[in-house]
Amino acid sequence: MAFPQTRLRRLRKSAVLRDLVRETDLTPRHLVYPMFVELGTDSRTPIEAMPGIDRLSINHAVEEAGEAVALGIPAVLLFGIPAHKDAQGSGAYDEEGVVQLAVRAIKEAHPDLVVITDVCMCEYTSHGHCGIVRDDGQVDNDVTLELLAKTAISHAAAGADAVAPSDMMDGRVGALRSQLDAEGHKETPIISYASKYASAFYGPFREAADSTPQFGDRRSYQMDPANADEAIREALLDVEEGADMLIVKPALPYLDIVHRVKEATRLPIAAYNVSGEYAMIKAAAAAGYLDERASVLEALTGIRRAGADIVITYHAKDVARWLQ
Ligand code: PBG
Repeated sequence: MAFPQTRLRRLRKSAVLRDLVRETDLTPRHLVYPMFVELGTDSRTPIEAMPGIDRLSINHAVEEAGEAVALGIPAVLLFGIPAHKDAQGSGAYDEEGVVQLAVRAIKEAHPDLVVITDVCMCEYTSHGHCGIVRDDGQVDNDVTLELLAKTAISHAAAGADAVAPSDMMDGRVGALRSQLDAEGHKETPIISYASKYASAFYGPFREAADSTPQFGDRRSYQMDPANADEAIREALLDVEEGADMLIVKPALPYLDIVHRVKEATRLPIAAYNVSGEYAMIKAAAAAGYLDERASVLEALTGIRRAGADIVITYHAKDVARWLQ
């Protein structure tokens, strides 16, 4: 009796045949490399829980952006660490702020690199929340929308190719779209963090951006990990408001969400393989518990297989090197 498995086994044994029937590919062109930019002359500040990732002054950010280009990585995502933080998060929409300066410098040096900017207040507010906090301790959604729009406009004016709002305020995509349009940035796409969970896996990022909330947590504006239908509703709302691409975040514990958001919207989907997911593999590899290269390639292939068109990952440069 010839079992079909017998023939499958033959397919799997030959590398050429394996390639011929492979359903998912992972190449550098699917990757976005996130970078943390700080003000400073010629500085590089290591992030303890993220070996290999540093906070970079603008000159080093330009340099690393160049490495990404050389490795065939099409896009970077910028986060800024301002010189000082205040209650209004004024560093976020300062035309001479760290992200605005970095965008100009990177686009000048590498015009073909796609530069995406994170639009949020939490890296810029003294209290670490993603919006303006009222006297009663609650985040003021509508006041925050104005400032987010101002931030997005300043990024677009500096030359950003796309803006990525990660604050999770209600109505932010619509607010950004109408104000970008009104200010002459009709062609700037919005990549919305549509389905963003209140996750423990952002821990190392908050160290990197020094953005841990000083009081309370983000559960009033980020999603409960137990919910999936809600993620689809959030995604559909963002589509209605004009989002051009959607982000699901984190990635690995939420592959079902990646799949469902893709099915429900048919928009380009980016999955954000966040700081804690990076830290886990790095730590296990450093301890000798995991083969770093094999685990990263498997994890990212899984994210692609789930339906992600784009993977935002701190592993991007390593992966591009391994795939060369
Ligand atoms: C918020 C933002 C966060 C991340 C990206 N944008 C952190 C948060 O919501 O606390 C996390 C990314 C990561 O962990 O790699 N501006």
